[in-house]
Amino acid sequence: MRSETFEEFAIPAFAGTTPEATGAKPRRLLVVTLFAVLLAACSGKEDGPAQKVEASKEQIARGLAVAQAGDCAACHTAEGGAPFAGGVPLATPFGTIHGTNITPDPDTGIGRWSADEFHRALTEGKARDGRHLYPAMPYTSYGGIAREDSDALYAYLMTRTPVRQANRANDLGFPYNLRFGLAFWNWMYLGREAKPASSGNSAQWQRGRYLVDVLGHCGECHTPRGGMGQLDHERPLAGAALGRIAAPDITPQGLAARGWSSDALIGFLRTGIAEPGSAYGEMFPVIHLSTQHMPDADLAAMTSYLLGEPAAAAQPVRAVAADPAALEPGRGHYLALCAGCHGREGEGKPHVAVAMAGNSTLRNVDARNLIVSVLDGLPAQDFPGIERMQDMPGFSDQLDDGSVAQLANYVRATWGGQPADVDAAAVKALRVQ
Ligand code: HEC
Ligand code: HEC
Ligand code: HEC
Repeated sequence: MRSETFEEFAIPAFAGTTPEATGAKPRRLLVVTLFAVLLAACSGKEDGPAQKVEASKEQIARGLAVAQAGDCAACHTAEGGAPFAGGVPLATPFGTIHGTNITPDPDTGIGRWSADEFHRALTEGKARDGRHLYPAMPYTSYGGIAREDSDALYAYLMTRTPVRQANRANDLGFPYNLRFGLAFWNWMYLGREAKPASSGNSAQWQRGRYLVDVLGHCGECHTPRGGMGQLDHERPLAGAALGRIAAPDITPQGLAARGWSSDALIGFLRTGIAEPGSAYGEMFPVIHLSTQHMPDADLAAMTSYLLGEPAAAAQPVRAVAADPAALEPGRGHYLALCAGCHGREGEGKPHVAVAMAGNSTLRNVDARNLIVSVLDGLPAQDFPGIERMQDMPGFSDQLDDGSVAQLANYVRATWGGQPADVDAAAVKALRVQ
């Protein structure tokens, strides 16, 4: 049991990425703008004894489920590294921060931490020695974790095999290398509860809210940020750019407008593929490491929170008025370059490529994910279950900015119900310089 569950967190040469897509490059993370305000001083803590943790099988099983729902592995398990031993580089706009060793090794991991200290790290972002953790560790979201879940997670982690592996130094430029400013940031933003992204009241909806907003920390990517990098709690899950690609609006209105039904959402979270499209970019690891492992009842709960009660109804693609002659060059590019995989009528091909007709990426008002997919291509990904599709090649060398814009306009207007309003400048801005 123990070694089996542990395997869930091994990340062998990370499935679903190509060297070009990630390789040795850090996983990308959007973190906050921090101002160095000299406020707090660290209080060093004497080394204590390694903790001896007794836990029941049930508590450990619950802890595993919390670790999966909380996606701890995404930032604490390195590609090819021991589970939870840290060393994961996370790129932020201020430099590289590393996920740390959270195995029970007393010297390099959290082996001396008590359950209280662990709970404080999750909810207040304070380490055992008093250091403020960088908010790359999503303690602002985890703040609402139930104490029993924190304790179960602690029991689970503390009964894993300790791995001796020193933490890697962070590579942050001044002033972000100073941790003092964090006290100020926390004082301003910690504990401000996100208002719910939908309305609802049932026990299922409440559970969904907890899974999405707290454990799943979906808002860390999907909620827009304010000037100091803090999550904008007035616009929960309304969508945010993460560098070149964006995490779309996943409010009930946003999801319904792009055709997401309850069943489609459950399928997407379980397998990464559903009728409105497949998971790619930063969303693929979320499914791969976290949501695919969650029980059906939890995925249903997340869906009832995401779509609200009563659930927002999926909208059909609306027809847009577009001049067929203006779309003709884009259609030519599509037939020459894309139809072989996505089908002449955008119908998709089983085990080859998803449908373009009604695809949520085409239905997004913001065209950036469509443009970046065409420029960069998408890596081959092993979707949970049986689905595996080859990679989608990138077309940045074959198509100039104007041609990518024509192509984007053709597919948006034909299958996405969006205006043909992409211009060459928008494409140019998204090219890797
Ligand atoms: C999005 C990335 C991310 C996720 C997800 C994440 N962490 Fe972290 N965590 C970090 C980073 C980065 C640090 C180090 C922060 C620093 O150096 O200030 C950290 C630090 C910690 C620490 C402090 C350890 C130390 O030695 O100081 C603990 C404990 C911890 N995380 C536990 C967890 C648990 C448990 C989960 C899952 C519920 C989790 N983390 C999920 C990024 C993450
Ligand atoms: C060799 C086959 C192939 C070709 C050619 C191809 N694609 Fe794809 N495309 C795929 C596959 C496979 C996926 C799903 C990738 C994934 O999620 O891992 C995909 C995904 C996409 C997506 C993301 C939508 C989603 O739900 O995953 C867009 C947008 C897209 N393709 C547009 C295009 C356009 C436009 C062209 C022509 C310039 C094109 N593709 C050419 C195979 C292809
Ligand atoms: C690390 C950043 C990140 C996190 C965390 C994250 N997402 Fe995403 N998500 C993305 C990105 C980027 C996309 C766009 C690519 C795609 O459609 O797969 C996306 C796409 C989606 C989509 C598809 C939307 C569409 O119209 O195509 C859904 C649904 C979704 N996310 C739900 C969630 C839920 C629920 C959670 C929390 C369990 C979550 N996401 C956590 C980055 C993230």
